[in-house]
Amino acid sequence: MDLTTHPYRSVLYIPASKERALEKARSLPTDAIIFDLEDAVAPEAKADARETLKSALAEGGYGKRAKIIRINALTTAWGLEDIQVLRNVGADIILLPKVNTAADVDNVADLLGPRMPVWVMMETPLSVFNAREIAAHAQVSGLVTGTNDLTKDLGCRYRSDRLPLMTALQMIVMAARAARGVVAIDGVYNRFRDGDGLKVECEQGRDLGFDGKTLIHPAQIEVTNTAFAPTQSEIDLAERQIAAFKDSQASGQGVAVVDGQIVENLHVVAAERILAKSQAISEMAAE
Ligand code: COA
Ligand code: MG
Repeated sequence: MDLTTHPYRSVLYIPASKERALEKARSLPTDAIIFDLEDAVAPEAKADARETLKSALAEGGYGKRAKIIRINALTTAWGLEDIQVLRNVGADIILLPKVNTAADVDNVADLLGPRMPVWVMMETPLSVFNAREIAAHAQVSGLVTGTNDLTKDLGCRYRSDRLPLMTALQMIVMAARAARGVVAIDGVYNRFRDGDGLKVECEQGRDLGFDGKTLIHPAQIEVTNTAFAPTQSEIDLAERQIAAFKDSQASGQGVAVVDGQIVENLHVVAAERILAKSQAISEMAAE
């Protein structure tokens, strides 16, 4: 799997303890799965959950979906064993919770070995302050926003416009982009039966620059996949911008005009990105 071109519109959490959900995920149209050993699994169920997950991954059937395992923090009683048991079970990415600094990533990266890609939960105020160093860590290829933990730690109120979280959300996207090639995933929408509310929050996340959103329930996948995919009119415009720019260059001009708007080299780069994303999504769908 080429993780650099893989789409990450929908990233579904599945408690590693829930066999039925692990089974169901094999047929859900999600771009990535986070098999969770951390907060979705009760302390007394952690050991069994590891084994359940190990068997599910050995059985396979998850197709092109990126397989991400969220382990417990090394500061807990379970983190080290999570790594020992699940280091070589075929996950594409290991997701670390409760990270505060890039040095926290080092500790786990040493245990995982240099070839295992690492994603980091951005869910503490300190992690947001250190976002730049965390995203720049050589082994980190994704940031996942933990809005529920952030809300708890900040003591802020839930608001549907997420105003209290806006600084954190924007710093996470900025850190990912500054590091180049690092994926930025938005937090979950807790009211999982409220599709309209989810759509609004997906569009806000997309507008902010996130690549996709973490989800807690299968009912959230379709809305999210649509919101984070380029629209047909974005694709059409991108194609016309690329064509118009080529024509202008052929006639010795550095810029073009499409629909009354200037098209410079940077717009062509953005247009090509839209087409590449659309292509990656089509490939994901063609299983
Ligand atoms: N992934 C895959 N399948 C899931 C799922 C998930 N996250 N959540 C629910 N399902 C499945 C159920 O197993 C059920 O499958 P079935 O039709 O084969 O029986 C189906 O979807 C419908 O589930 P539903 O009855 O609507 O949900 P629920 O009331 O059983 O569970 C939650 C609701 C929120 C408890 C559950 O969705 C969940 O555990 N989500 C993940 C929570 C999590 O991981 N949190 C940590 C990060 S914030
Ligand atoms: Mg959390």
